[in-house]
Amino acid sequence: MPITYNEQSREFHLYNDQISYLIKILANEQLGQLYFGKRIPERADHDYLVENKYRPVTSYVFDDEYSFSLGNLKQEYPSYGTTDPRHPAFTIQQPNGSKITDFKYVSHTIYAGKKALVGLPATYVEDKAEATTLEVTLYDEVIEVYMYLKYTIFEKHAAIARSVSFKNVGQAEHKLQAALSLNLDLPDDDYEWLQFSGAWGRERHLHKSHLRPGIQAIDSARGASSHMQNPFVILKRPYTTEEMGEALGISLVYSGNFLARAEVDEYAVTRLQIGLNPFQFSWCLKPNEIFQTPEAILAYSDAGLNDLSQTFHRLFTTRLARGYWRERKRPILINNWEATYFDFTEEKLLAIAKSAKKLGIELFVLDDGWFGKRTKENAGLGDWYVNHERLKDGITGLAKKIHDMGLMFGLWFEPEMVNKDSDLYRKHPDYIIETPRRHASHGRKQYVLDFSRKEVVDNIYEQMVKILDEGEIDYIKWDMNRNITECYSNAYPADQQGEIMHRYMLGVYDLYERLLTRFPKILFESCASGGGRFDAGMLYYAPQAWTSDDTDAIERLKIQYGTSFGYPQSMMGAHVSASPNEQLGRITPLKIRGDVAFFGAFGYELDLATLSPAEMTEVKKQVAFMKKYREIFQYGTFYRLKSPFEGNIVSWMVVSQDKNQALVGYYKILNDVNCEFRRLRLPGLAATKNYHVSEENGTDLGDFTGSELANIGLVTTDASAGENRETTDFYGKIFILEKRDN
Ligand code: DGJ
Repeated sequence: MPITYNEQSREFHLYNDQISYLIKILANEQLGQLYFGKRIPERADHDYLVENKYRPVTSYVFDDEYSFSLGNLKQEYPSYGTTDPRHPAFTIQQPNGSKITDFKYVSHTIYAGKKALVGLPATYVEDKAEATTLEVTLYDEVIEVYMYLKYTIFEKHAAIARSVSFKNVGQAEHKLQAALSLNLDLPDDDYEWLQFSGAWGRERHLHKSHLRPGIQAIDSARGASSHMQNPFVILKRPYTTEEMGEALGISLVYSGNFLARAEVDEYAVTRLQIGLNPFQFSWCLKPNEIFQTPEAILAYSDAGLNDLSQTFHRLFTTRLARGYWRERKRPILINNWEATYFDFTEEKLLAIAKSAKKLGIELFVLDDGWFGKRTKENAGLGDWYVNHERLKDGITGLAKKIHDMGLMFGLWFEPEMVNKDSDLYRKHPDYIIETPRRHASHGRKQYVLDFSRKEVVDNIYEQMVKILDEGEIDYIKWDMNRNITECYSNAYPADQQGEIMHRYMLGVYDLYERLLTRFPKILFESCASGGGRFDAGMLYYAPQAWTSDDTDAIERLKIQYGTSFGYPQSMMGAHVSASPNEQLGRITPLKIRGDVAFFGAFGYELDLATLSPAEMTEVKKQVAFMKKYREIFQYGTFYRLKSPFEGNIVSWMVVSQDKNQALVGYYKILNDVNCEFRRLRLPGLAATKNYHVSEENGTDLGDFTGSELANIGLVTTDASAGENRETTDFYGKIFILEKRDN
């Protein structure tokens, strides 16, 4: 049983082969955090870890003593104000205005398996033996509210899933003003904080800084997890590298407003937290009602950042993504957006599809502009019926023609939005999120539908189902192109307006769930103006996400590298697009565009009809190459080797599960001359296996053992070590490693 409870010491030990997590019921009946890290052996008690001392300017819980202060203690789910002045994990405002609470231990259960969270995305197990769950019940008798702290430890992952729920069993109504998913008090502050931040077109760039006294935090208050911040943070030791050292990561399985915060107190204790953003949030906890927080994942490694990322990759690929497409190779797609934008005819689309088929592409995706009066961005959103002037035989007809060519057919939707110039808005102007007597701001001429209301979600569901029932649709790109402003719902009273952002997300999840239940074989790709909602919440419904609207290969090095810290490559939509690049005009060879996009859910986003014969041949080769190695590109173990945030040469690699094959992506951004001889150490291979190394153009580099490649390294020296007249700027290559019989 990987969760034990010791009656004498009142300690819980959650463990598997890799990690341990220790909790203790403290003298005041609240829960203390004793340890999280590498697996440690059982021990009768850890009382020596309940650290208390008389300290000036500290307040104490028990009368006539100076030893028990919550301000001194590491806790599981702390409240503010009863001797702990740090930021709490939750706040409950009571009818008399007080926010002081005192939740005391009542009971606990330990069971095999893991329960689903109703209405929320979460990790899951298929067999009870895969995980063990601890649920601790605490109660505040003054406000008559129960708190349930839930912890699931996975047998085979160095990770713990956590969430919390509250139940009001009294007569009074309370207001939750904060309800985070995870709190972890760590005994020191010698950590670097890694966050993945950016903007549209440059999402999830790595930023690193050492923790300092006080607060550092990232958040989103935009109604989506956002391009700007990602609900994923790593704390690592300063000495930790990709290949060695301690690190821990927290990821929120949620797609809306969030907060991730580290507070370092005056005694160098680090309080790490993640959950729903308390800013602008409140929730009426009415009598007999339950509030469930989203889930957070906590992972640990003592073997470096690559190992930590691989834990998230494996868990998300196998036990967050689900259904038909889980762990399935992703179809190679052609998307018409950058090829045509709104300016398409059926003939044009069929011509693109025809070329795509010839090149070996498998899925044709029709992007924005096929519905209502949507010939430009100011009209049509909300009207999910086909524009017959553009597509005379409708979606059904087009899907059939595409299928007859031997391609799968995919379609774009933006279900959460409406244009004022639409039948939906004309009929239901009250369906949008706007504040009474205030101006409603637009984004791209569109308004956000009030998905906190069931009738709004029902309306969009019915419209989508009609299209999906008629035409045979294999794939949906679910877009979301603006954030929420003037947040207010006409359907809720004044004291529930703080719930709308979260209720909105619950509505989005509900629509996803209903569509997946009815169409379990459709592959969903989530998108939000590129990577504006790239999070573990979305991955539960849509197992791939459009990583960024920025398709420039050089920009993508940073974006995909940053994204890889928290998310697997099978989830990252990565397309080869035209050169000069649409977003920043950079001219790059087709070769590097393919070499970067291979490490993801691969596809094309350009007008294939405009390619030269030589380019057509190259694309055909890329597609064939991707098909040959797709399983490893998308599901191999991913290693970051050289960072685009640190130098001119970037590299990453994937290794097959059996370690018999590996592919190394090697990219030189700017050309150089008369340079050093270069080697690249390759981790992750089997030391004693013999690997044949070649380049995808057939160049044979010889045979080397895994041990040689890990310790001496792969020689990557190219013409630039001399008088270079061969390599160019934006130079990419893929090394192929295949096991040879010894
Ligand atoms: C934004 C997306 O990120 C693009 O890929 C494209 O689908 C457009 N929206 C369509 O409006």
